[in-house]
Amino acid sequence: MPELTAVVRDAAEVVVGPPEDGAGGTEGGGSDDATEPLIRRENAAVAVVDGRVAAVGPSDEVTREYPPENAEYAVDAAGKSVIPGFVDSHTHALFAGDRSDEFEAKLRGKTYQEIMAEGGGILRTVAATRAADDDALLSNLLGHLDVMLAHGTTTAEVKSGYGLDTETELRMLEAIDRANDRHPVDVVPTFMGAHAVPPDVDAAEYAEEVVSEQLPAVETQGIAEFCDVFCEEGAFTVEQSRRVLEAGIEAGLAPKIHADEFANLGGSRLAADLGATSADHLLRSTDEDIDALVEAGVVPVLLPGTAFALGAGYADAGAFLDRGAPVAVATDFNPNCYSQNMGFAVSLACVGMRMTPARALVAATRNGALALDREESLGTLREGAAADLLVLDAPSYVHLPYNFAVNAVETVLKGGEVVHAKDGSEATHG
Ligand code: NIG
Ligand code: FE
Repeated sequence: MPELTAVVRDAAEVVVGPPEDGAGGTEGGGSDDATEPLIRRENAAVAVVDGRVAAVGPSDEVTREYPPENAEYAVDAAGKSVIPGFVDSHTHALFAGDRSDEFEAKLRGKTYQEIMAEGGGILRTVAATRAADDDALLSNLLGHLDVMLAHGTTTAEVKSGYGLDTETELRMLEAIDRANDRHPVDVVPTFMGAHAVPPDVDAAEYAEEVVSEQLPAVETQGIAEFCDVFCEEGAFTVEQSRRVLEAGIEAGLAPKIHADEFANLGGSRLAADLGATSADHLLRSTDEDIDALVEAGVVPVLLPGTAFALGAGYADAGAFLDRGAPVAVATDFNPNCYSQNMGFAVSLACVGMRMTPARALVAATRNGALALDREESLGTLREGAAADLLVLDAPSYVHLPYNFAVNAVETVLKGGEVVHAKDGSEATHG
């Protein structure tokens, strides 16, 4: 017997997602700007059967067909808005140690790369992560996932890359896998052995170690889904990055790349060449790079929180959007960019990168799912999609970026089950 998992009723608005063809246009009313790529329903309800969206429509019609009293979870969303759960497609949420002193040093004028060259930054987190035992790694990650969930993230990519040796890289992936089993947030594991060059090794030599030692062990372990590389001055060249990502593809890991963040080495061209799932950061990409990424169907993942934390300029989202690219926005949560809050990333996308609230929301949901190869089931509230959804304490989704740096998320449903409620209360059981 199919089970009526949840009914969320009487919402002031339900944001379903972008239209199927991805082009502009608004179906079903709710927006007076026909260029906004968003389907919104007013006075609406969502019914969830067996964890998937069964119906979205006028509240009276949906509740007649799916009586809330028969549902496991009945949520009254009167005066509130409902949006898809956030898909945070770029995080380094698993780490040990504290780098708050670097925050101060950066405010006094030190650059991220100066700190990195002095053995701080990533390498400092590597030392702390290597020293942490398995339980500490797991509990650190679970703690961060709790904060992410409370801010509406229902799926998060998490990268390894603070081990830089086979043993610790495997331990990180193992912790990611264990967290995935224990936490309502779905965690997508990415192997990033080529995140930095460990001390006293040459980059080329270390890239070879990633290829010949780490990747075969990661393949045997069978947890990682993506392989990522930091293609940057002071990290890995385009050739080294290519070598690692090609070996990753052979090991069954789809490529991602940190490209054009501080310097443009040609990382986005490499992403286009390899048909990478995503290319991330992209602050220094040229028009030709952007053309190549769009042509190759690589999802551009923009990380406005990083620019904010570094006090640097933002990526040129408009250059991607003008070409019809499915721009994704993610937190890049890491010890250098310390925010788990996707709602704030959406605010920064609007104010810092001049994205409309509609485009920023799609970037944080459907396009995040695209960047993780999960667009079939995640990132929208279409019929048949996984019922990962947020009830916002606001009458429209626009309040989410508008009321910046405040958590608008009241209730989080994952697969139709209430997994977080702001006041700690459970939704009424039918
Ligand atoms: O995406 N740029 C490389 N990796 C991270 C930073 C990681 C760190 O500083 O610990 C990023 O911003
Ligand atoms: Fe990153």
